[in-house]
Amino acid sequence: MSNAGFPAVRLRRLRRTAPMRRMVAGTRLHPSELVLPMFVKEGIEQAQPVASMPGVAQHTRDSLRKAAHEAAEAGVGGLILFGVPAVKDARGSAGDDPDGIVQRALADLRGDLGDALVVMTDTCLDEFTDHGHCGILTPEGEVDNDATLERYASVAVAQAAAGSACIAPSGMMDGQVAAIRAALDGAGFSHIPILGYSVKYASAFYGPFRDAAECAPRFGDRAAYQQDPAGPVGEALREVALDLAEGADAVMVKPAMAYLDILRQVRDTVDVPVAAYQVSGEYAMIEAAAANGWIDRERAIDESLIAIRRAGADMILTYWATEVARRLS
Ligand code: PBG
Repeated sequence: MSNAGFPAVRLRRLRRTAPMRRMVAGTRLHPSELVLPMFVKEGIEQAQPVASMPGVAQHTRDSLRKAAHEAAEAGVGGLILFGVPAVKDARGSAGDDPDGIVQRALADLRGDLGDALVVMTDTCLDEFTDHGHCGILTPEGEVDNDATLERYASVAVAQAAAGSACIAPSGMMDGQVAAIRAALDGAGFSHIPILGYSVKYASAFYGPFRDAAECAPRFGDRAAYQQDPAGPVGEALREVALDLAEGADAVMVKPAMAYLDILRQVRDTVDVPVAAYQVSGEYAMIEAAAANGWIDRERAIDESLIAIRRAGADMILTYWATEVARRLS
């Protein structure tokens, strides 16, 4: 009674000291669930910084090896490789060329690192096509779904043959997981998993990536194959269900921060691992604001990753993977 007028329930007791907060923390990050996206470019002598992504580079084969080694040392769980070929054409021939930049870099990385971390590949055509679209074009300039599937299947097999430990198709063609699964199985790679970029929105937050991977479409945009941010919410769950029916082993939601609601729904619906991709624009925004002194860089990075984890991601693709892994250990 002496407390009359004051709250008996005090939530602040568990917040008062750092050890107390640490003990009751409900969300934790671990280096092994972080995946580092990396870019390797053919025909350059030195790594080239990506202006819109401070701290991220287009690597040479050698600098890629060094950075991948650093990621593994830090305990990062995986990396996902993107390639920038010297020559592009309409069908993205460099994508499945055994001597293509991604295939060569894969062989380097697997030779160096073995299974120290999971070396994955993004499987798409936009980095390899001269028009910058994610597939084969019809004479009218539309992306031809089924002709593109044949190309994806071939790219996936080339990547697996060169040492990719996980194929991650990102092109948003209907039936891409089934086509790739069948091709992998037929080529003796039934043991290689597929991480579907199942839920992928046509997002403004991919802007800086298109500089890093030099894959901005020459005309139009990707709205005819990637999802509409304002589209039916159930569409995300249909994409996930279809990818799982087609044989995906794990699924992804992308981008992350603007789609945490979708991430949570996917997590609550499926029983496979769910990844989230904290994309280039999410990275660039925090880096830019921090460079201006407008936010505390490390706190903003950690908070963003905790939010993605809390929304249900089992794995997070993030350009900060190595830095954060080091800080965690
Ligand atoms: C397509 C692909 C893109 C990204 C990953 N895979 C670009 C796009 O769809 O336009 C974007 C990743 C990022 O922004 O960090 N191959």
